Amino acid sequence: MEVKFKILRFDPKRDKAPHYNTFSVEASLNSRILDCLNKIRWEQDGSLAYRMSCGHGVCGSDGMTINGVASLACQKLVKDYDHTNDILIEPLQFFPIIKDLVVDMTPFFQRMKATHPLSEEDVTKVEEGKELKQTIEERAIFDDAIKCIMCACCTASCPVVLKEEPEFIGPAAVLRAQRHIFDTRVKDVLERMKILEEPHGIWSCRTYFKCTEVCPKKIKVTEAILQTKRKILSELHPTGT
Ligand code: SF4
Ligand code: F3S
Ligand code: FES
Repeated sequence: MEVKFKILRFDPKRDKAPHYNTFSVEASLNSRILDCLNKIRWEQDGSLAYRMSCGHGVCGSDGMTINGVASLACQKLVKDYDHTNDILIEPLQFFPIIKDLVVDMTPFFQRMKATHPLSEEDVTKVEEGKELKQTIEERAIFDDAIKCIMCACCTASCPVVLKEEPEFIGPAAVLRAQRHIFDTRVKDVLERMKILEEPHGIWSCRTYFKCTEVCPKKIKVTEAILQTKRKILSELHPTGT
């Protein structure tokens, strides 16, 4: 069957403003959106720009906005959408467009890094020759956060980032901090919690849950943020100050 895609195009070097191109693709209900984009690029317009690598929800590189929702193109099928109408493909919101669906992820990775006070070798309690044990329960607390593939779909969907406070470090950065703060092997936990309390940090999250809704790895992002807020309150502000 023929499926139509309306795709945002923008080359800042040539175009004054973004515009849309429509492409018709032969696809089945089970075709992935990424397959359709590949067909467009390989058979109709080789200048269409988007990122992809693994094709299986692992690398996190093909985050884009599909019918208004941040998603991985390799995880979504034609049948997930009303394919009797155009399927709208746009870049992730918030990030500057480099070309078409490719955005500049620098602000995302800067925020992820900002929650790390020290270099990796300085952060664990490992002593030479000693095994560092962790119980299954201790490890389970940050199991979810480890699944993060840094696709930025959550940050590009958070209403605080998009509308209220663009400087907010965003859900992915808080989730990454949660992964370390709850890891019993990490020694600079207090330092990490203090960094999260800086302006535009964890307290800028207003529990909108959008991050959890869109996460392609089904990580309970909001729950991890709330759990971290509770730990900060109990460890840094035990008397309510
Ligand atoms: Fe992507 Fe989910 Fe990680 Fe956010 S938390 S960056 S949506 S995998
Ligand atoms: Fe944004 Fe998620 Fe908090 S959508 S406001 S980071 S719960
Ligand atoms: Fe790697 Fe989609 S191409 S996650």
